[in-house]
Amino acid sequence: MSGKHQLIERLDTHGKLIIERHIHKMSTLIATGVAHPNIAFIKYWGNIDSELNIPSTGSISMNLDALWSKTTVTFEEKLKEDTLAINGNPASLLALQRVSTFLNIVRTMANRQIFADVRSVNNFPIAAGLASSASAFAALSLAATRALGLTLSEIELSRLARRGSGSSCRSVPPGYVEWQLGRGNGDSYAHSIAPAQHWLLTDCIAIVQSSEKLIGSQTGHLLAATSPFQPARILDAPRRLAICRQAILQRDFDALAKIIELDSNMLHAVMITSDPPLVYWQPSTLAILKIIPDMRAQGWPVCYTIDAGANIHIICPADYSAKIERILSQIPTVSQVLISPPGGGVSINED
Ligand code: PMV
Repeated sequence: MSGKHQLIERLDTHGKLIIERHIHKMSTLIATGVAHPNIAFIKYWGNIDSELNIPSTGSISMNLDALWSKTTVTFEEKLKEDTLAINGNPASLLALQRVSTFLNIVRTMANRQIFADVRSVNNFPIAAGLASSASAFAALSLAATRALGLTLSEIELSRLARRGSGSSCRSVPPGYVEWQLGRGNGDSYAHSIAPAQHWLLTDCIAIVQSSEKLIGSQTGHLLAATSPFQPARILDAPRRLAICRQAILQRDFDALAKIIELDSNMLHAVMITSDPPLVYWQPSTLAILKIIPDMRAQGWPVCYTIDAGANIHIICPADYSAKIERILSQIPTVSQVLISPPGGGVSINED
């Protein structure tokens, strides 16, 4: 362990001057956080405050247990700047700047000026519309605050994660989560509406594109207001949120399926009518959408939802996931099928 020497002068009980040489052991300021991405059933798209990521609507999601981001943060006196590695490779300058800006918030909270080495690994394709920024910033929020000796409540952590990526605030609490509509930093955070074990739904994700998407959600949020459909989407949001919340609480799959698909379609209607238009779908996205009615015709309870990417999420009760996985994995344009039950919230990795 490295250390700094410091001479301390003090008087002993007889008034004699004592000079002591203290070696300050520098503690290693390190912590690792683990978080799951989430799939939004009622989605977030567009902000009323882009700097603080205050959304123009509330949103509801489910954490995805099988997918995770693990982020280790090491603050060290000797570092001259922050460094960032994602999946073992040095990150782009843009990603590093985003993380540094976020760490500045944490440094201000802890009143410490010290740089950090950040290493993040994910077990799923990043930047392909699978909300890797949600899990990454939730894990980073917990790791960075703990490494600097801060113990935040779930609400404080959710508020902090939101600053890195809006949907990240939903990866902090466990299970089924609602990000309530707030007006500012203080009241814009997420809370759990039901634990993961409340309802064993499964997300079957068909990966049709695992490369990085061209337009990230940060740019997408800025374009939302250019769509003439965005005001209608915002106006109707409280209704969709109420239906979704109730469907989850009552485990009513038919009601949930209907509102999830409507919300996803409304999101993509806004995307493709924004200026410039954002079309995330690939031909294979649509091909899979077209087989959902066939699954329903067989009596399978299924519904789809698509985020800012080409990949398609099929939500179903757990008993149906093996059948759906079999069908999806036979489609030539599907490179991988990820299957996930609902998951917990962010946690510290003790290893
Ligand atoms: O948190 P962001 O900036 O990655 O935005 C997420 C946007 C969607 O995934 C499309 C919707 C959502 O609510 O997760």
